[in-house]
Amino acid sequence: MSDADHLVVFTPSGRRGNASTGTTVLDAARKLGVDIDSVCGGRGICGRCQVEPMYGEFAKHGITADASHLSSPGAVETSYRGRRPLTEGRRLSCSATICGDLVIDVPAASQVHQQVIRKDIDLGDIELDAVLVLRLVELAPGEDLLDALGRQWSLTGLEQAPGLDVTADGTGLATVAIRDDEQIVAAWPGLRDRVLGVAIDIGSTTLAGHLFDLATGTALATAGAMNPQIRFGEDLMSRVSYVMMNPGGEVELTAAVREALDALLGRLCEDGDATRDEILELVLVGNPIMHHLLLGLDPTPLGVAPFTLEISDAVDRTAVELGLEAHPAARVHVLPCIAGHVGADTAAVVLATRPHESEGVQLVVDIGTNAEIVLSGNGRTLAASSPTGPAFEGAQISSGQRATPGAIERVRIDPATGEPRIRILGVEPWSDEPGFDEAVRATGVTGICGSGIIEVVAEMYLAGLMTTDGVVGGPDTRPSPRIEPDGRTFAYVLHDSGDGNRILVTQNDVRAIQLAKAALYAGIRLLMDHLAVDRLDGIALAGAFGSHIDTVHATVLGLIPDCTPSEVMAVGNAAGAGAAIALLSGAARREIQVLVDDIEKIETAMEPAFQAHFVDAMAVPHRTADYPGLSTVLTLPERPAATAGGANERGRRRRRPTRESPREEVNK
Ligand code: FES
Repeated sequence: MSDADHLVVFTPSGRRGNASTGTTVLDAARKLGVDIDSVCGGRGICGRCQVEPMYGEFAKHGITADASHLSSPGAVETSYRGRRPLTEGRRLSCSATICGDLVIDVPAASQVHQQVIRKDIDLGDIELDAVLVLRLVELAPGEDLLDALGRQWSLTGLEQAPGLDVTADGTGLATVAIRDDEQIVAAWPGLRDRVLGVAIDIGSTTLAGHLFDLATGTALATAGAMNPQIRFGEDLMSRVSYVMMNPGGEVELTAAVREALDALLGRLCEDGDATRDEILELVLVGNPIMHHLLLGLDPTPLGVAPFTLEISDAVDRTAVELGLEAHPAARVHVLPCIAGHVGADTAAVVLATRPHESEGVQLVVDIGTNAEIVLSGNGRTLAASSPTGPAFEGAQISSGQRATPGAIERVRIDPATGEPRIRILGVEPWSDEPGFDEAVRATGVTGICGSGIIEVVAEMYLAGLMTTDGVVGGPDTRPSPRIEPDGRTFAYVLHDSGDGNRILVTQNDVRAIQLAKAALYAGIRLLMDHLAVDRLDGIALAGAFGSHIDTVHATVLGLIPDCTPSEVMAVGNAAGAGAAIALLSGAARREIQVLVDDIEKIETAMEPAFQAHFVDAMAVPHRTADYPGLSTVLTLPERPAATAGGANERGRRRRRPTRESPREEVNK
């Protein structure tokens, strides 16, 4: 190493090498493969290239450094007034030159492939791979843009979007946006250092959107809206029926969702202090019917077997084509659909939860009126959907309702007395705690939401008020004043306000829940058969409903197969997170397309084994399955041995819980 060579170490990457006196820190970094961000190309105006030199003795690196090892801030740095202030200790790496050995930290915001860790939307630990980058370029009079980019940025092979007009400012500078390292899609005079993107999960009930800074991965705003298609039908199939019965109905449904998406963009811009023309990239996901209606495709083939998708691969459209007001060059990327019942939203869930990379056999379930099921293990990934119906959303349940204020969301039943304790959505105290009556006065107790119905049926079983076959009351159950005749069957009185407002769990309610949970369980078991596995190592519950249910109760009910409770987790709005990941990473887009092509699609309706699994899964929790995982936190009531006599035979046997209060975990 000559006197003019200095040892430079960059953190956090740990890359190290020599640089000669007078080399800019940015050049030294690039030579060593350290990606430092830059829009202005080292002109000292974008502020993206900031680094933090560290002074002192670094025995680990064999470096002792002080401020004299870096040039003093010159005119460029002292006059810098860009959007990203130079905080104390920071330097512009394009200006500061090396005069001695140095340890230089590259802050996350200056890294090109920075890790994005968001709290408001859980993107996991993803690496940015921007699909759109900005480059400031100096255009000499009459100089060709592509030549200038080649000269100043070493960029070759680019093409300019047809009709794109590039105008420089008075000093000859212009900023261009380059998409997919291929095409110059937008240009502005002078420096432009921010472009935005939007990720939206189009649910059949709600639209959930996030606005991001594409360069940094920073979430600027989050907003939701109702899906206005609800006025054409509450659930997906009723919307398809609307289209079948009303020629041209798909046009109305398409217009409705596009209008709502456009309004959502407006809200996101307002909340994120941004303008629509800053948005150059959007990623949208939705189930197959939402996907087809968004794209203006006929959804009716998705309403009948064999549930054929008109388009399954990822598609790109312009925002203009979809009636969305954004930058005129804005692109909309729609993730691929997996199968006729398993859509782009599930592809996004896979991208966010990555079951294919986890150890062992991993199940991901997104529960709605259809449950989407993805199972990974032994190097394979399978997907299917199961028609759970709307029972978990409160429909078909006598006192069912959506999860809104007044809904019972938590239930515990004392097995000794059969007396329930309840908790109401948005109210802190339980019904047997001080302050409950005052707290519920405003809303009253209005019904049971999905999580509440799962808990009450599981608790009724654990308390011996319901048999494993789902029979409420009667000779095979524990007597309780809460069980009362209800026509030819019995019902459990979950709540009685004393003023005529009574909330019952009827035999029909239990049957509706048994049918829904058996459909889900049977779908899961079918995929386990295909994968030739008997046990699950982990379960991820996606979606709003999955995030809200108590996983132990869900296992007791037999909604999901047995798994160690600590390995069952709610993963929130994984579809929205997956859409955001695809927005921020071109690599993720390519990855999910390949993965979707490889996923084995199982059509549950076509499989004879589905019916057999369904029948066994009608029992609570299941006719024959064992529960070693669940038994680590509670003891299930003893189930009668399965016989060839079927459910009726089994229903005549007497069954009781083995312990009075076996449920530490459940009683929390
Ligand atoms: Fe733009 Fe340094 S690269 S300020």
